[in-house]
Amino acid sequence: MYRIGQKEIDAVARLIESRQMFRYREGGLCERFERRYSKYLGIDDCIMCSSGTTALTAALVGAGVGPGDEVLVPACTYIATAIAVVAAGAIPVIVDIDESILISPEAIDEMAGPKTKAVMPVHMWGMCCDMDAIMAVAEKHGLVVVEDACQAVGGGYKGRKLGTFGKTGGFSFNYFKNMSCGEGGAAVARDPDDFLRVRCMIDCCRFYWTGREDAPSLFTSNGARASELEGAVMNVQLDRLEPTMRSLRKKKQRVLRETVDSGLTPVTAHSLDYECGSHVMYVLPSEEQAVKFSGLAGTGIAGRTGRHVYTEWDPIFEHAGGPSDRMNAFKFEENQDCRMDYRKDMCAKSLDILNRTVMIGLNPDLKRPDVSKLIRRLNRAAKAVL
Ligand SMILES: Cc1ncc(COP(=O)(O)O)c(C=O)c1O
Repeated sequence: MYRIGQKEIDAVARLIESRQMFRYREGGLCERFERRYSKYLGIDDCIMCSSGTTALTAALVGAGVGPGDEVLVPACTYIATAIAVVAAGAIPVIVDIDESILISPEAIDEMAGPKTKAVMPVHMWGMCCDMDAIMAVAEKHGLVVVEDACQAVGGGYKGRKLGTFGKTGGFSFNYFKNMSCGEGGAAVARDPDDFLRVRCMIDCCRFYWTGREDAPSLFTSNGARASELEGAVMNVQLDRLEPTMRSLRKKKQRVLRETVDSGLTPVTAHSLDYECGSHVMYVLPSEEQAVKFSGLAGTGIAGRTGRHVYTEWDPIFEHAGGPSDRMNAFKFEENQDCRMDYRKDMCAKSLDILNRTVMIGLNPDLKRPDVSKLIRRLNRAAKAVL
């Protein structure tokens, strides 16, 4: 949940008054944001684009993923993670999550096969995956790591920003994220050659505006260039990010502290001091108890958001990967040995965990008495249910 207000209005007004709406110009706002966000992430470069899905597709291609490759994706993520894999010409293989409700390093170890090229850790709901274990298991199997940090903008793991552990990574700035300009995203790569490919996926015509040396035309792609309107808003949003993160983390840690005697089990956290803190989650012993708890405390249930569980990914299940067979990764000859036999019960362990997990989204502007009320509600519901 982001903060937004007069400063963004003023920034957009200034841009419109300047009539300089194209990003490739002296003092461009997208370029400024890219410089500042890269510094914030502790990485050399990043590129803004039209969405998180575009960013992830570019990140996958940048990391060398393509036809003939399987990519491991978690059973709990938004469908865009799997869509990006298909858009890159590869096949998503769905693997289990664990009690952190994030991708399980053991499941990666178990599921990595001869066709598997990459794994996508997805930092869901502002939490962070177990990056030490994931990087180790990826190395063991020679897998490339492409991070989906769309839901974890501003989050970190043991002091390092999410999105910068993998070979490449992607962020979303859509309406629901920690920084937003309505729709938008950004992609990063650690290796300069990978970054050129990422950038070419997002704006293959850049060379017309910035010179052929800066932007070699490696291949053609669809245009997904960000607008200066997004640049104007995102520069202000970046100023707000750290205070927002601090406020969310503080609130989450207070809620966890003050519900510690309730008998509730928080989902396993891998780096509580650095994650976004945007959601508090507890795993209950049974689905029945989770439903009852959710009714009493007014929380959501992770397995029932209607869009974050693999069973909701209709076009993936239907192998509807493009407008025609020749443009559909599921039909590519190179992919015919990849695992694409999806079944609704294939990750039963994940479904069990998600259906027992209750979730509370926090707002950085919640006042102290509001948080106290929430804590009382959670403790009361726990008493009635556990
Ligand atoms: C985990 C995850 N990955 C990718 C995306 C795609 O982002 P966008 O909607 O900006 O394309 C989202 C968006 O909600 C997401 O939650």
